[in-house]
Amino acid sequence: MNQPIQHPVIDDRMARLRQRDCPTSQFRAYVQEISQMMVPAVTADLFTLPTQVETPLEITTGRKLEREIVLVPILRAGLGMLEGFLRLLPESAVAHIGMARNEDTLSPESYYFNAPTSLTDADVMVLDPMLATGGSASAAIDELKKHGAKHLRFACIVAAPEGLERLNSDHPDVPVYYPALDSRLNEHGYILPGLGDAGDRIFGTV
Ligand code: PRP
Ligand code: URA
Repeated sequence: MNQPIQHPVIDDRMARLRQRDCPTSQFRAYVQEISQMMVPAVTADLFTLPTQVETPLEITTGRKLEREIVLVPILRAGLGMLEGFLRLLPESAVAHIGMARNEDTLSPESYYFNAPTSLTDADVMVLDPMLATGGSASAAIDELKKHGAKHLRFACIVAAPEGLERLNSDHPDVPVYYPALDSRLNEHGYILPGLGDAGDRIFGTV
């Protein structure tokens, strides 16, 4: 289930983010701003339940989210998206998954997993700015499912068609949200036109 996100302000930030001379501090800020602007679309179909509300004047009925939210940044680059999501969803729990793509084989290597014990009843949102081959996202979702997650969604900033196809095929139950769908991967598995190595640009390790 592909869920493109269209917003003129996101388009503006995306163009700045892609610039090769965008400094680290600005790059980090744009990733955060784009992520924050993605939240309404990513959460638009969450289920709610009725709840009783006591205003200063009388008792009425409101709505509350049905499930706890667990945000899962894929280390490292996913951390860049976390703050934007937490700004609008501050009550979320945060799980961490360490995944490093082997740059020769392009296969993900898992090095860390830390999640709340009960993922089963949570809305689990996996965050990673780059969906290239889709290997890292798919492996992260595999691990989360093994730990009981049932209600998953994946949010990235730049998607490649190859990554979307892989995720749709491996995890057809997981909707994928993205503001930018780029044209292809190069021979090193980098997204074109893309923005380069997101983790390095967020953390200044270029
Ligand atoms: C990047 C990116 C994704 C992955 C995408 O991370 O943040 O996790 O590559 O590629 P894929 O779709 O082909 O798996 P990387 O492994 O470079 O680690 P980093 O976040 O520490 O920079
Ligand atoms: N990881 C990145 O950070 N960028 C790409 O283009 C592909 C994988």
